[in-house]
Amino acid sequence: MEATTGSPARGILADENAEQREEIIAMLKKAYWMEIETVMSYIANSVNPDGVRAQEIIESLQEDIQEELGHAQQFAARIKELYGVVPGSLEFSAEQSYLQPPEHQTDIVHVVKGVIEAESGAIEHYNHIIEVTDGVDFVTQDMVIAILRDEEGHRRLFEGYLREYETEGLA
Ligand SMILES: [Fe+2]
Repeated sequence: MEATTGSPARGILADENAEQREEIIAMLKKAYWMEIETVMSYIANSVNPDGVRAQEIIESLQEDIQEELGHAQQFAARIKELYGVVPGSLEFSAEQSYLQPPEHQTDIVHVVKGVIEAESGAIEHYNHIIEVTDGVDFVTQDMVIAILRDEEGHRRLFEGYLREYETEGLA
């Protein structure tokens, strides 16, 4: 932790809140990596799928890539504001086993289910950040609430796709 001069007496930037700051920075780093991995997975899954059904999913994921990238940048900026350091790529370790390319590139249901799982993981982690920052760091909390809304929106959209496939007996 770098020394701070003339630090505010109140709020998350106060010297006395260094420990809580560290905890929040660790959660923000995890969120940052989740967003980065999502960008990687969505790029692959917006290119690989084949078939008529794939087009809607491809277009949807292409849009989401930019949104998730924006989230990663917001998490990075907040890490710095809290006197943390945005980690380098060597600290990255992948976790999204469910978003690996399917055996057959026409298997759109695999992609849709993978996206739902990724969004669910983000929703769970971001709800945790919102709880931990409550009354402690309103700025991080406010930022994460807005991001959470995006993830809930993505999840709902892909649930709709899955519902359609289920109705058609494809899932
Ligand atoms: Fe995101």
